[in-house]
Amino acid sequence: VIFLVLLQNTTSRLPVMSGKRAHTSSTDGEQQQPAQVSAAGSGASRRPGWDLKGKVSDMENKVQNYQGKIKSANQENEYLKDSITKAQKHKTQLAIQTSALGRCQDHLKESQELAGNLEETVAHQREELHLGEMERRKLHNAIQELKGNIRVFCRVRPLLTGNQSDVLHIQLPAHDNKALTLAKMEESHTGRTADTQKSYNFSFDRVFGPRAVQREVFEEISLLVQSALDGYNVCCFAYGQTGSGKTFTMEGSDLEELWGVIPRAVQQIFKSAKALRAQGWQYTFTASFVEIYNETLRDLLYTGKPNKRPEHEIRKISSNEITVTNLTYQKVNNEDEVHNLIMLANQNRSTARTGMNDHSSRSHSVFQLDIEGQNSDRDTKCKSTLCLVDLAGSERVQKSQSQGDRFKEMTAINSSLTNLGIVIAALANKDSFVPYRNSKLTYLLQNCLGGNSKTLMFVNISPEEESFSESLNSLRFASKVNDCVIGTASANRK
Ligand SMILES: Nc1ncnc2c1ncn2[C@@H]1O[C@H](COP(=O)(O)OP(=O)(O)OP(=O)(O)O)[C@@H](O)[C@H]1O
Ligand SMILES: [Mg+2]
Repeated sequence: VIFLVLLQNTTSRLPVMSGKRAHTSSTDGEQQQPAQVSAAGSGASRRPGWDLKGKVSDMENKVQNYQGKIKSANQENEYLKDSITKAQKHKTQLAIQTSALGRCQDHLKESQELAGNLEETVAHQREELHLGEMERRKLHNAIQELKGNIRVFCRVRPLLTGNQSDVLHIQLPAHDNKALTLAKMEESHTGRTADTQKSYNFSFDRVFGPRAVQREVFEEISLLVQSALDGYNVCCFAYGQTGSGKTFTMEGSDLEELWGVIPRAVQQIFKSAKALRAQGWQYTFTASFVEIYNETLRDLLYTGKPNKRPEHEIRKISSNEITVTNLTYQKVNNEDEVHNLIMLANQNRSTARTGMNDHSSRSHSVFQLDIEGQNSDRDTKCKSTLCLVDLAGSERVQKSQSQGDRFKEMTAINSSLTNLGIVIAALANKDSFVPYRNSKLTYLLQNCLGGNSKTLMFVNISPEEESFSESLNSLRFASKVNDCVIGTASANRK
C-alpha cells in the first residue's frame, strides 16, 4: 500500500513533457532523479521499469505528436494537390494557347503569302489599267478624228414669244439631225407666175432644234472635253447674231438644268480628273477669262482699281503656246472656285444696250482652262488648253441702227469675225500662211483653230422671220468652217 501511494504521489507530481528536460522538486525538499521524456521516446527507456503510467503518458504524447505531424503533412498534401491541380489547369490552358498561337502563325503565313500574291495582282492590274487608259485615249482620239477635228453644230433658239409652229422658214427634217433648210417665198415680180419658194440647204455635224435642252447639247461636246484632259487643245465657240442664244449656249443660267457649256465642261473636267487620280494622274488647272472689246484685251478676272487696269499683249511663247501679259492666271482646284471666277467675269464683262438685245454683249469673251496632267508612276505628262468662247454678235451694222460708239464696236466685231472666216478659209486651203495676227481674236485662238487642236463651233440661229438674212449669213459662215479640214491633232504628251 505504501508503494502504491508513493507511485501515485510521484506520477501526480510529474509534469507532461514533450521532448524537454524538466526538473521537479519534491515537497519535502528531497532531490529526485529528473524524469527525462523526449518526443522521440528516448525518455521512455530511461523511465524506471515501474513507471508504467509515465510510459503510457509518454506514448500518448508521442501519438499526439505524430498525429500533429500527420495533420500538418496532410494539410501540406492538400495544398500540394491543389497546386498540382492548378498547375495542370495552367498546363492545359498553355497547351490550348500554344496550339492557338500555332494556328495564328499558320494564318499569318497564309495571309502574308496572300498579301504577296495580291500585291503582284495589283501591280499587274495597275499596268493593265494604264495600258487600257492609254488605249482608251488613242481610241477616243481616233473617234474624234473620224468625226473631224473641226466640227460645227447649229442650234436654233426657240421663239421667245408666240407659237413655235409659226416658224415656217426654218425646216428641220424629223429623221435627220444634221440638216437644216432655210426657205423663203419669193414673190413673182411680174405677178404672172405663182410665188416660188427659195430653199437654202445646210448640213452640219449636228443640228439642234428649238426644243433641244442644255444637257442634250452638252452630251455631244462632252467627248471633246474629255480630249482636253487627254492632252488635246480644245476650243468651243459660239457664233451668231445678237440675241440668237450664244451666251445661253455657252453659259446658260444659274439653274443647274439650264447650265451651259462652260459650267458643264468645268464639272466634267473636275469629275474626270478625280477618277483619273486612281490611275496616278495628278492635274493642275489654271483659269483665265479675257474679253476682246474693240480690239483691246480686258482681264475679266481683274480685281484691282478700275483706273489701274494694266494693258495686255498677246505673246507667242512657243510653237503651241500663247500667253497674255499682265493677265490673271488663277490656279483652281475645284468646280466652285471656277464658278466664282465666272461670276466675277460676268460682273466685269462689258455689256451695252443696242437696238436689238437689251443684254447684248459687244465683246468676245474667252474662257481658258489650262490643264497640266502628270502621271508620276509612269513619268508621263500632258498639257492642254480648254478654250470656250462666246463671240460678240455677228449682225451687220445697218440692222442694229448703231451709231457712234456702237458703230465702232460693230466695225471691230465684224472685222474680227471676218478675219476669223479668213483664217478658217486659209486653214481649209492648207495655205502656208495663215493670218492669225490680223485680229486679236484669231491671234489668241490660233492654237485652238489650227494644227494641234479640236475645234467646235456653234452657229446660233434666231427663229424670227426678220432674222432670215442674218441667219443665212451665219449659216453660210458656219458652212465655210465646216468645210475646213484641220491637220490631225496630236496630244501634247511628253
Ligand atoms: N435655247 C434657248 N432656250 C430658251 N431661251 C433661250 C435659248 N437661247 C437663247 N435664249 C434666250 O434668248 C435671249 C437671248 O439669248 P442670248 O443672250 O444667249 O443671246 P446672245 O447670242 O448671247 O446675244 P448677244 O450677242 O447680244 O450677246 C436670252 O433671254 C436667252 O435666255
Ligand atoms: Mg451674249
